[in-house]
Amino acid sequence: MQEQLTAIREAATGALNQAETLAALEELRIQYLGKKGELTAVMKGMGQLSPEERPLVGQLANQVRSEIETALDEKKNALEAEAANAKILNETIDVTMPGKRSGKGKKHPLTTVLDDLKDIFTGMGFTIAEGPEVELDYYNFEALNIPKDHPARDTQDTFYIDENVVLRSQTSPVQVRTMEQQKPPIRVIAPGRVYRSDAVDATHSPVFHQVEGLVVDKGITMADLKGTLEVFVKKLYGEETRLRFRPHHFPFTEPSAEVDISCFNCGGEGCRICKGEGWIEILGCGMVHPRVLSGCGIDPEEYSGFAFGIGLERITMFRYGIDDLRLYFENDIRFLEQF
Ligand code: DAH
Repeated sequence: MQEQLTAIREAATGALNQAETLAALEELRIQYLGKKGELTAVMKGMGQLSPEERPLVGQLANQVRSEIETALDEKKNALEAEAANAKILNETIDVTMPGKRSGKGKKHPLTTVLDDLKDIFTGMGFTIAEGPEVELDYYNFEALNIPKDHPARDTQDTFYIDENVVLRSQTSPVQVRTMEQQKPPIRVIAPGRVYRSDAVDATHSPVFHQVEGLVVDKGITMADLKGTLEVFVKKLYGEETRLRFRPHHFPFTEPSAEVDISCFNCGGEGCRICKGEGWIEILGCGMVHPRVLSGCGIDPEEYSGFAFGIGLERITMFRYGIDDLRLYFENDIRFLEQF
């Protein structure tokens, strides 16, 4: 029996040393120490021993059991430590590895110019107003002194949603919405998208941007309009830029004018960009028509105002020498990266 026990000890320690996983270790524990294990089987036979032998064999059996237990524990600890080390090695971060570069975006040139424009006008005390792009015919035309059969409707090839609803063809309806909601003094700009049923070419797009301006207060005159636009133009294009007001007609202003600036390219000599004129048209403006004011509940006897409408694509073209409107909307990264 003693031989059996020592044989078990040898076999068990040998097998334990070979074990490579915690699962294999558990199998060995069951094989040797479990209820149906080899050691247990031997110990069950102890009843047949003589009273002299019994304590000796018992002692040896206990010793073998505790040796196997200790060996199991040690091996278990060793395997667990190994696994933990492997995990740590796997998870190590190499802080010297170069990072992944992510490409930086650029501001779209229209955004840059609009941001500049907002800075210039908010610097003069203007706030920013907004209106819907899907607009009532009433605001887009009627309230701006453009009745149903007015020829001015034909010059703006409007997208109609139904008889009374359009995609706004100009930002001017925001003037009316603002005057309905605010009492004078009013000083706002309203940038936004506008829509016209135009085929796409170098100078036309069915969607583009305008920036509307509106000032209403007591005693506002054409001189205020001129002074405001002069500050704006010189800040945007440089101090040397000159302005020219040309008489024009808009239904919602009286008198009305178009504003030209001296050509940024030739300074007024005449060149390819200004088509030999020396001047470039950049916006429409005028004194708010008394009928528009009174339609919004503002007494034209007490108040007066001026308004202007700027084409954002156009003023951006002149700022950067962009010669094709389509470039703005194609989002070719090689174009956008230049600004
Ligand atoms: N709404 C006009 C257009 O789209 C531009 C314009 C002209 C706006 C004169 C104004 C203005 O506010 O006073 O052609």
